[in-house]
Amino acid sequence: MKKTILITGGAGFIGSHVVRLFVRQYPEYQIVNLDALTYAGNLENLKDIAQYPNYTFVKADITDEVFIPELFRNYKFDGVIHLAAESHVDRSISDPMAFIRTNVFGTVNLLNAARAAWKEHVEGKRFYHVSTDEVYGALDFDGKLFTEASRYDPHSPYSASKASSDHFVRTYHDTYGMPVVISNCSNNYGANHFPEKLIPLSINNIKNKKPIPIYGKGENVRDWLWVEDHARAIDLIFHRGKSGETYNIGGNNEWTNIDLIRLLCRIMDKKLGRREGESETLITFVKDRSGHDLRYAIDSTKLKTELGWEPSLQFEEGLEKTVDWYLENQDWLERVINGAYRDYYEKQYGHKV
Ligand code: NAD
Ligand code: DAU
Repeated sequence: MKKTILITGGAGFIGSHVVRLFVRQYPEYQIVNLDALTYAGNLENLKDIAQYPNYTFVKADITDEVFIPELFRNYKFDGVIHLAAESHVDRSISDPMAFIRTNVFGTVNLLNAARAAWKEHVEGKRFYHVSTDEVYGALDFDGKLFTEASRYDPHSPYSASKASSDHFVRTYHDTYGMPVVISNCSNNYGANHFPEKLIPLSINNIKNKKPIPIYGKGENVRDWLWVEDHARAIDLIFHRGKSGETYNIGGNNEWTNIDLIRLLCRIMDKKLGRREGESETLITFVKDRSGHDLRYAIDSTKLKTELGWEPSLQFEEGLEKTVDWYLENQDWLERVINGAYRDYYEKQYGHKV
């Protein structure tokens, strides 16, 4: 069946994997990738599918109250998969307003545009909001997991802004009857991950024999999921999730930061032909993140039982694949670090970002 789907934030880490999956898997769909190309947006992430006939890129800001409704009128979208966001917790601590602007105001602006465009024919439409496990706050070391019924308890400006956007999405379902679905996912890892986040930052530092900064004692726990498994979950939920529902997505794969970095060091010592233990000497404990959530861990039972989703990769295998990708794509990493990736848009579209 033909559909026109808007994917926001498709030039970012997870968004680029979602766009690629949809463009390749559904040639009958028209996929419109809307992205403001902030520091986190990189069109190089999508160079392999940029010429596909069912793919269009639109450079725009989701907070634009004139352009976004106009886009909805022009394209008559059947569905929205909303990933555009400010996504880095540390940046949210130094600049919360940017997070409120994009994550809260931008989400509501999209909801308003969808509501206006779908006023007459809402049947078959879908607004899918991609969110995070961080809205649930932090767990202790007691083995408990976040379920869809867990209380919202955000601790960072980032997670508060995502929690707020989740609430707005639900209110548009409850108040206006908008067909919405939400997913809350744990930490992703894989190719094209921006090197401000723990895994790609550490890969880059290990490669260059620079200190690996570990916040606090490295005892915080995250539940890591391969990004392509997240993209597959998004595909399933978009097509088969129930309207008004939330689905948790997680890797059932908890690691303390320090154990994860030690594993990464071992993998990289092997790949780089270094003596075993050499890269571990780069580990440097630094001042902890303010309000640092101790542990995240997701119960994905609902997604597994209702929609039959399972993660496809074991973590060691996924991490090794990720290291291979970064070592084979050192030019991608270098262009991100030296800023040259910002010119990619100009080369392709003839004017500056
Ligand atoms: P990212 O920072 O890599 O990418 C975000 C993208 O959104 C970028 O391409 C950026 O240019 C775009 N963007 C930012 N502000 C915009 C605006 N105002 N208008 C239009 N585009 C804008 O983020 P990510 O890690 O890929 O995360 C994507 C989504 O998934 C986010 O909503 C995030 O909260 C959620 N999420 C991320 C993770 C994770 O581990 N990374 C886990 C769970 C959920
Ligand atoms: O849980 C899902 C969330 O995962 C997403 O919603 C966020 O968008 C995504 O950025 C990620 O948030 P985290 O804060 O968990 O990711 P980050 O890579 O920043 O940090 C992972 C852990 O590593 C965290 O406990 C903080 C720690 N850390 C991070 C960095 C960047 C360090 O010890 N040193 C570092 O230099």
